[in-house]
Amino acid sequence: MNNSLTVQANDWWRDAVIYQVYPRSFFDSNGDGIGDLPGIKSRLDYIASLGVDIVWISPFFTSPMKDFGYDVADYCDVDPIFGTLADFDALLSRAHELGLKIMIDQVLSHCSEVHPWFLESRKSRDNPKADWYVWANPKADGSPPNNWLSVFGGSAWQWDARRRQYYLHNFLVSQPDLNFHHPEVQQAHLDNMRFWLERGVDGFRLDACNFHFHDRQLRDNPPSQVRDNKTVQDNNPYGMQAHIHDKTQPENLAFLEKIRHLLNEYDAIAIGEVGADDSLAVMADYTADGNKLQMAYSFNLLTATYSAAYIRQQVEEYEARVKGGWVSWSVGNHDSVRVMTRWGGQQATPAFAKMLLAMQMALKGTPCLYQGDELALTEADIAYEDIQDPYGITFWPEFKGRDGCRTPMPWHADQPNAGFSAGKPWLPVSVEHAAHAVSVQDADAGSVLNFARHILAWRKKYPQLSRGEISFFDAPEPVLAIRRDLAGSTCILAVFNLGDQPVSFTWPDAGKARTMTDAGLPGQLNGNSVELPAYGAWFGELPA
Ligand code: BGC
Repeated sequence: MNNSLTVQANDWWRDAVIYQVYPRSFFDSNGDGIGDLPGIKSRLDYIASLGVDIVWISPFFTSPMKDFGYDVADYCDVDPIFGTLADFDALLSRAHELGLKIMIDQVLSHCSEVHPWFLESRKSRDNPKADWYVWANPKADGSPPNNWLSVFGGSAWQWDARRRQYYLHNFLVSQPDLNFHHPEVQQAHLDNMRFWLERGVDGFRLDACNFHFHDRQLRDNPPSQVRDNKTVQDNNPYGMQAHIHDKTQPENLAFLEKIRHLLNEYDAIAIGEVGADDSLAVMADYTADGNKLQMAYSFNLLTATYSAAYIRQQVEEYEARVKGGWVSWSVGNHDSVRVMTRWGGQQATPAFAKMLLAMQMALKGTPCLYQGDELALTEADIAYEDIQDPYGITFWPEFKGRDGCRTPMPWHADQPNAGFSAGKPWLPVSVEHAAHAVSVQDADAGSVLNFARHILAWRKKYPQLSRGEISFFDAPEPVLAIRRDLAGSTCILAVFNLGDQPVSFTWPDAGKARTMTDAGLPGQLNGNSVELPAYGAWFGELPA
């Protein structure tokens, strides 16, 4: 077993870039309209060509797919839709041949209602797994035990007629929450994680990892004092509560330490998804002291809010709170409106996509790219009859759900379904996406895809960009001006124009800098000013 010092030194993941694969929509190898593990394996060369280091694969475990795999019915098997354990082993081994690490999703906080653990637990109040879930009696008037709400709408409690009790579900009714106060639950999860570590996975992405524990006394949440504009839609009352009792309980820290202990045996990593009212503080806690998670995955740039001041504030706040930990910044994932549309609006240009990629390379933290963002895919418009996401069905039409960012990857512009599948895809391939297909962009030296490859490779040459301290220059909107300092290296300056009009940014020391022309960005240095076209970016170097 490695001691913690060895593991702390072995922090290669700080220099890495993560690429998220949503398996249903990556590549369909068998024509059933749904992407699968052999499909991912057959496209690993493409992923490696991007220059990323870690592939995070969203859930592919046995599941009734009510939440498309985030409702796990067997933590140690592959759903037949996606293939077999042998397919997973083959994928893993090919990834390792290509120098890619594989990080799999672990949805520990809740499972599917058809998981054998829950089937047993709901049988009676005194079976061996009776307390593995969060069961509670109704109030005297029959209503749920407290005011907790589900992220997906409505009460977080569901009545069970056999036990004559309510059970907790922070997400769908079909996703009962496990009771982490029960030591056997913790151990069962650790055993299942060991199963995958033994198979050779390099790490885990921990889904909703601050939902593991709940307040044992089941106290009501108070009303929120702040409007949460991050993950919750305005039309969902979930955002109206301060979530101080239903999640983010202090007991989780000790459980995360147990996870780290297990990871250290295998030199593996974990990145925790944290969605909380004060998520930056929770992220700092969960990654503190080198004995819990290596990285926390931030929702804070998955917002509708888009401005230089906002991005700066998020990064500065995290840096102010961090206690030795590490963040992974992401601007896109399978739960958020595609960034091209969310931040880029109707007219998002390839220049905008390139600027965003360059900006992610300049932030301190491990960038996490979502499949298709390297192609500058926009949010797909999904007709009501094609909607699959239960969240979207509940909140339609005010919120159309998460399908628009989950549509299939376009591989070939001139093939049916843009080359994703020989069958009918589970979500329609967006017509506009065909023009962004890999086949088109591969052949175009100036494409967003080729820029993504270039800028990822370029970043690797400059440890300042992964290891350096980060600070910001005061700059008027829409300019984001960053400085990265690493002892013994040149200082890197990075300036981004987040707007659609040319800007000039002047500061006294700019004249001492040298434009890093090998970054391939359109910004120009002119005296003490950086001239940026619409959505332009510039990297410069000051002597050490
Ligand atoms: C995942 C979602 C999922 C939810 C419940 C999340 O944070 O990213 O896709 O619906 O957890 O498991």
